[in-house]
Amino acid sequence: MRELTVGLGSRSYPIFIAEGCLGRIGTDLAERRVGKRYGLIMDDRVAEVYGELVTESLHGAGLAVETLVFPHGEASKSLHSVADLAGRLASLGIDRQDALIALGGGVTGDLAGFLAATYMRGIPYVQVPTTLLAQVDSSVGGKTGVDIIEGKNLIGVFHQPRAVYVDIAVLRTLPREELLGGLAEVIKYGVIRDGAFFDFLENHRQAILDLQPEVITHTISTCCRIKAEVVAEDEREGGMRRILNYGHTIGHAVEGASDFTIIHGLAVAIGMVAAARLAVAQGLLSEPDKERIVTLLKAYGLPVAVPGALSRTRIKRYLLTDKKAVGGRLHFVLPTTIGRTCIDADISEAQIDAVLG
Ligand SMILES: NC(=O)c1ccc[n+]([C@@H]2O[C@H](COP(=O)([O-])OP(=O)(O)OC[C@H]3O[C@@H](n4cnc5c(N)ncnc54)[C@H](O)[C@@H]3O)[C@@H](O)[C@H]2O)c1
Ligand SMILES: [Zn+2]
Repeated sequence: MRELTVGLGSRSYPIFIAEGCLGRIGTDLAERRVGKRYGLIMDDRVAEVYGELVTESLHGAGLAVETLVFPHGEASKSLHSVADLAGRLASLGIDRQDALIALGGGVTGDLAGFLAATYMRGIPYVQVPTTLLAQVDSSVGGKTGVDIIEGKNLIGVFHQPRAVYVDIAVLRTLPREELLGGLAEVIKYGVIRDGAFFDFLENHRQAILDLQPEVITHTISTCCRIKAEVVAEDEREGGMRRILNYGHTIGHAVEGASDFTIIHGLAVAIGMVAAARLAVAQGLLSEPDKERIVTLLKAYGLPVAVPGALSRTRIKRYLLTDKKAVGGRLHFVLPTTIGRTCIDADISEAQIDAVLG
């Protein structure tokens, strides 16, 4: 088992990474006394595969648990779901002495986290991420929220969990595409902050794709360590936390322009390559370093170019919406070498056209 800490003073919390820890959550929660009773929040798919295991773990430790299930998918990350779940919590008499458990992917983490942040002006919660993306990214850092028609994550609040439990065994039931999407975020951490980790990802490709326990534990804990460091330095995204957006400016535009048929992680892989090419064009990154990024993404089966059929005009329209949000200029996180980045707001439209291809 690995244990890390997100260091945020009195709001610090542990991240546990271990095979099989889903079955031991009850004992740990009983020791930590996070809540008197627990509202276990999960989508229907996760409920079917892991709901009983977690419920039994809590019952085994003598804890009372109420299960609240919602339909899987991004569409559930809505104010409507918040109202529905809050109503169910109120009917069950859940109050401020109680706590929530977010068991699932990033959708569940963001939705249950937002519910915990706002129900009765805030109750405690823990994250139990079950997708690779949630294990290495969304479960750590306390960003919670929901979507509105006008855009994703437009309503939200920071609310740090009391603990994060990462069970690597759950990755075995994850659809292949979801695993790949998470791996794009994993590679992102190597590029932005840790050259040695990038080497590790180059050297352990097969073991990672095979979910070999020791290698996958090291992989996830390195990502969580980096995310925890960045969050501890910049909890509310004033500066440093922006490096986590590497690949996401063009990535989000590709995701949107594809009407979300290209899943987030795959779009981010395309965005990382585009940003690396912009960095080369700006004289910030060497051609061989850019090639290493492209080669590694390809080796994991990730896309590295914008699909030919996708409208460039639509991608650029999405980029312009992003631009408005940051005061008129597009900000790109650009790698300067493997393991380091800078922010560049001086990219021309012609350069963007060139990297979109
Ligand atoms: N808060 C943050 O910092 C942050 C960071 C990145 C992404 N996000 C958010 O995360 C969301 C995406 O998360 P996601 O990719 O995990 O999607 P998701 O939560 O929708 O999960 C993907 C699918 O996998 C299923 N699933 C989950 N775990 C499984 C398992 N172990 N076995 C089988 N099936 C499983 C789910 O039921 C779902 O259908 C987006 O809404 C995004 O905005 C938040
Ligand atoms: Zn992402």
